[in-house]
Amino acid sequence: MENRLFIQLAHKLVAYPQVYDLVQNLVGVKQVQGHMQPFLAHLENQLVLDVGSGTGLYRSVLPAEVDYIGLDLDPMKLVGLQERVQDRLGILLADATRICLQDKCVDVALCVFLGHHLTDEQVKALMRELARVVNGHLLFVEPLNRPQSKVSNLLWFYDRGSHPRTLSTWQSFLKRDFDIEEQQVFSIYHEYLLCWCKPKQIA
Ligand SMILES: C[S@@+](CC[C@H](N)C(=O)[O-])C[C@H]1O[C@@H](n2cnc3c(N)ncnc32)[C@H](O)[C@@H]1O
Repeated sequence: MENRLFIQLAHKLVAYPQVYDLVQNLVGVKQVQGHMQPFLAHLENQLVLDVGSGTGLYRSVLPAEVDYIGLDLDPMKLVGLQERVQDRLGILLADATRICLQDKCVDVALCVFLGHHLTDEQVKALMRELARVVNGHLLFVEPLNRPQSKVSNLLWFYDRGSHPRTLSTWQSFLKRDFDIEEQQVFSIYHEYLLCWCKPKQIA
């Protein structure tokens, strides 16, 4: 009972953009950004959609001249995003499983730490929607379920996302709609999967 109240309190606190950013910095934002950077540093004048953008912690990995749209369901996170990113910014208060954008209108999509907030059916819808709107590539990053690590278990215990999945589960979800061109698995406290993917060509 006490544990449950503590978790609810932790979730309420993390809903505040500043607290969310602080926690993310403690669990390794800089290292994750370092892994993403080589895929994004070369983009020029392109449109990037960040689904489940939260406060836009990963905007800074993109070159200044890209146009950036942050999409999230949580208005509080989007306020944090607006405070962080003022230039070349679009904001969508929307559900990533029903993206209100036209087919193939986005050059690159980021999907970072969103998947474990979604059920299997929602993940399937997310992948379909991303493959529909993305013309170029998807950069997908997710923490993996790693039951043998005490620190990872502790982080999952407090995480608001309640759907940790294994590497092979994520690969099969991605491969329904995308070809994975490059894949990395790296460790900070959790183990993370990073995939650079292209939507499958429909014959
Ligand atoms: C762990 S945060 C990740 C935020 C950001 N990508 C980052 O790494 O800092 C997950 C985000 O996904 C958002 N989210 C959850 N379900 C969503 C959905 N169906 N559509 C859009 N955003 C969603 C939450 O509001 C939250 O901001």
